[in-house]
Amino acid sequence: MTNTAKDQGEVLERLQNVWETHAKDDPLWAIISTPGKMGGKWDLNEFLQTGRHEIDQLLETLSSNDIEFERSSALDFGCGVGRLTQALARSFESVCGVDISPTMIENARNLNQYQEKCTYHLNARPDLRLFEDDRFSFVYSNIVLQHMEPEVAKNYLAEFGRILKPGGLVIFQLPSQFKNEKGLPAAAYSTSIHCPEQKLSWLSSSRATLAVSVQNTSPVLWPCEPGQPIMLGNHWLDEAGQMIRQDDGRAVLPQVVRPGETVGLTLDVKTPPAAGRYTIELDLVQEGIAWFKNKGAQTLRLPVEILPRAAEEPMAPSDADIRPPGNLGDAPPAVEEAFEGFSMHYIPRREVVALLHQHGMQLEFIVPTDVGGPGYPGYFYFARAVKAPRADEHSSLSS
Ligand SMILES: C[S@@+](CC[C@H](N)C(=O)[O-])C[C@H]1O[C@@H](n2cnc3c(N)ncnc32)[C@H](O)[C@@H]1O
Repeated sequence: MTNTAKDQGEVLERLQNVWETHAKDDPLWAIISTPGKMGGKWDLNEFLQTGRHEIDQLLETLSSNDIEFERSSALDFGCGVGRLTQALARSFESVCGVDISPTMIENARNLNQYQEKCTYHLNARPDLRLFEDDRFSFVYSNIVLQHMEPEVAKNYLAEFGRILKPGGLVIFQLPSQFKNEKGLPAAAYSTSIHCPEQKLSWLSSSRATLAVSVQNTSPVLWPCEPGQPIMLGNHWLDEAGQMIRQDDGRAVLPQVVRPGETVGLTLDVKTPPAAGRYTIELDLVQEGIAWFKNKGAQTLRLPVEILPRAAEEPMAPSDADIRPPGNLGDAPPAVEEAFEGFSMHYIPRREVVALLHQHGMQLEFIVPTDVGGPGYPGYFYFARAVKAPRADEHSSLSS
């Protein structure tokens, strides 16, 4: 439980560190973690198009359900690089994006196509006091509240009620439970991973490729399902064996793998920023469910020597490096502070609905969604602020 302001402050600080690390490392993948897009592989236009598509669908849902709302001022809570904020700016007089990560906000400002009509705000507080009461006619938040502890998310939900104008709409997504039944049966987590290269020596902060073979040594067929792919991935360990980077490369198993069968894969990895001796650990992962190691499988650990890059040697290019030249904060994230995964949380629907009522919002309708990821079913909640208009607004509204 994180009840006190001090506890929440510490939780927010950790949350900010995690998102800042991801924002510096691979911001687009941190936002939409589509397999195959890790390591700067998102095309920026394709990425932004997902935002326009999402907002078009949202507006269509509102219109087809006869939900009326003012198109004056919108807030995108947890805006990341502005994927949805920019899309909202097409339909609202003004829009604000707010995020906890300075680098996300910096990227969002660099990508802003709407000048002062669209503003971005950094906020690392457990509240939204940067905005006055009744500030927005529309609040939207997707794939954000699920990544923070429920007590923290509940505070923000309460704040949505405060910053909404009377009659304003709030729409947000939250998982309502975890579902793990898509995990493989326990016996399936057995594999033998081989790499012909044993002496690995790479430059720091560069991309490298490993040819790897993976054998299914379990008695269970490994399925090949787009929603729940099995992937080869890697961690980085320092010389003392401490995990310094949990999530790095991913290569999807391209086919069903029968018991005893072996498949060949190519894994693209990103090397640590500092020269030295490391270990790269190869393991299989069922995304959103489990690393095979945590289910008892053997991993493959290989020693790697990381050599310093000559000063003039260019960094490996990254398709999705959206920060302008000179503004890159060129140092990749310091490995020791990096790489916690995204944590996932849920709030049961009953509690969300009660909380909305408690904070002056009335549920209009809810739409089931698994946008939070496979295994995290939840809802989009559509609610309206039902509080009385402020005294100074009363005359204009009633005239
Ligand atoms: C998965 S990304 C989604 C970004 C954006 N909503 C989108 O769909 O494109 C989650 C974002 O929430 C931000 N975030 C996490 N906790 C936050 C908080 N307490 N306040 C504001 N932003 C937060 C992260 O920095 C990150 O940019």
